[in-house]
Amino acid sequence: MKIEIQGLNQIYPNGNHALKDINLEFGTGMFGLLGPNGAGKSSLMRILVTLMKPTSGVVLVEGQDIQKHRKELRSILGYLPQDFRFFTALKTWEFLDYSGSLAGLKNKRERIAEVDRLLDQVGLLEVRDRQANRLSGGMKRRLGIAQALIGNPRIIVVDEPTTGLDPDERIRFRNILSQLSQHDVTIILSTHIVGDISSTCQGMALLNKGELVFSGSPENLVKNAEGHVFKLTLSPYDYERVKEHYNIISTIPVESGWEVQIVSDTAPDFESISLIPNIEHAYVYFMEHKLHTELGE
Ligand SMILES: Nc1ncnc2c1ncn2[C@@H]1O[C@H](COP(=O)(O)OP(=O)(O)OP(=O)(O)O)[C@@H](O)[C@H]1O
Ligand SMILES: [Mg+2]
Repeated sequence: MKIEIQGLNQIYPNGNHALKDINLEFGTGMFGLLGPNGAGKSSLMRILVTLMKPTSGVVLVEGQDIQKHRKELRSILGYLPQDFRFFTALKTWEFLDYSGSLAGLKNKRERIAEVDRLLDQVGLLEVRDRQANRLSGGMKRRLGIAQALIGNPRIIVVDEPTTGLDPDERIRFRNILSQLSQHDVTIILSTHIVGDISSTCQGMALLNKGELVFSGSPENLVKNAEGHVFKLTLSPYDYERVKEHYNIISTIPVESGWEVQIVSDTAPDFESISLIPNIEHAYVYFMEHKLHTELGE
């Protein structure tokens, strides 16, 4: 599904300008929304799922303004809020069964089959009869993921879905999403963890303090950081000087002092080797670069 975000601003009643003139466009497949705490990811997602009306701007889904077609949108939507919680005495399977009926699965037998299929997919089949609010934190998160997936939504919005998941579960979850993204589903995933943005994301956006600082493919993000990442071996004295002027992203002790990696617009005034950037380097480069451009440096 084609999603167009045009001139979006969100200003909260207390004056917080959480989204500043955001323009974005993406289609079927996985779209990653990356940014540090307070960047505006959840605000953008709440607007996308029509839980919040933006101060200005529009979101179009297949050319239709979502504010004017809330009901239709909600019927094809799966959403996992960042603070997903439930205060019920329902068993795990019952909770998901209830979510399924809300999502429009009318046939009871089919619904229960779907519940068990999803519980299996997120690794909760063994605890299907346990009371949902007695699950562990990570298990609750997985149940949250399952309730976002039930009812075959065409658009899936998941806000920090991997919070609290162990590494195995993160991988499992990533695989579920990348399989889904091949079935004509649009997935929007937010995260502050660079590693969650994998090559399975066709598109991504980088938000910082309400501003869009990058949008494009993850490969493109990395490409933009080429020639801006350097490795230096420094004496303890030089280390202090480098620390003052450059953005150090890693430090390893070596015999002669420190081996450090820095992100910089231009080659440093110290002997250095240019490194092939990875996505983490690129993230730091973009965040810093944008900051310096803003300050007019
Ligand atoms: N209800 C609200 N009222 C006022 N300000 C808010 C409200 N919700 C969020 N904000 C502010 O808007 C900004 C963006 O918040 P948002 O929750 O969208 O960021 P985020 O990128 O999801 O952050 P995190 O990674 O911590 O979840 C922050 O400065 C936040 O304090
Ligand atoms: Mg958030």
